[in-house]
Amino acid sequence: MVIAGTEGYTESADSLIARYESVSFAEKYESVFHLMPEKTSDVLDIGAGTGADAAWFAAAGHRVLAVEPTDRLRDSAKAIHPSPLIEWVADSLPDLRKLISLGQSFDLVLLTAVWMHLAQQERHKAMPNVAALLKADGVLLMSLRHGPVPENRRMFQVSVDETILLAEREGLRNTLNIEVQSAQLINRQAGVTWSWLAFSKSYA
Ligand SMILES: C[S@@+](CC[C@H](N)C(=O)[O-])C[C@H]1O[C@@H](n2cnc3c(N)ncnc32)[C@H](O)[C@@H]1O
Repeated sequence: MVIAGTEGYTESADSLIARYESVSFAEKYESVFHLMPEKTSDVLDIGAGTGADAAWFAAAGHRVLAVEPTDRLRDSAKAIHPSPLIEWVADSLPDLRKLISLGQSFDLVLLTAVWMHLAQQERHKAMPNVAALLKADGVLLMSLRHGPVPENRRMFQVSVDETILLAEREGLRNTLNIEVQSAQLINRQAGVTWSWLAFSKSYA
């Protein structure tokens, strides 16, 4: 059974792995780089793909829990970016059942290029689970894709307003909302843009 949201990823894994690995962390996170933790942190990367981001955090000394439901991507990620600081879990939104059963919480939760794979009902179900994984002063950072949907992929046009509303319902405060061009040339040429949203659990 294909996990909702992951449609097309196994079939296109070879080309996607090459594409994801070709974009540097600095390029991809250029506009939100100031939000990266300075002190050693617990980072949760949901929909971690080929593990390139997880590897950047691990190289900076952070502990990373990387959640990836697509077996092909997760297996490749472990091979490309082996690190004792990265733990991989096969789990998926909206329930994140295995992850929640671990009882851990995180300083930074990343949802980079993942949320638009969830249908509205799934997004409503997922946000409380994601918010509950943040530490008291934790930060949630997510990107939403806008523009044409690639063939064979399950994607929805997700609004910034809906996302902020869902997060605020869970007690999260929106601290950043910007729209940027895609870091991937092929997406830029197709007119894809991204919204970066950050949320803080603390009101201090
Ligand atoms: C566009 S890729 C982004 C990968 C990585 N975050 C990055 O920025 O390179 C989307 C990822 O979300 C994962 N994904 C799709 N549906 C998901 C779900 N229901 N729960 C968790 N991850 C999902 C896919 O398997 C894929 O690895």
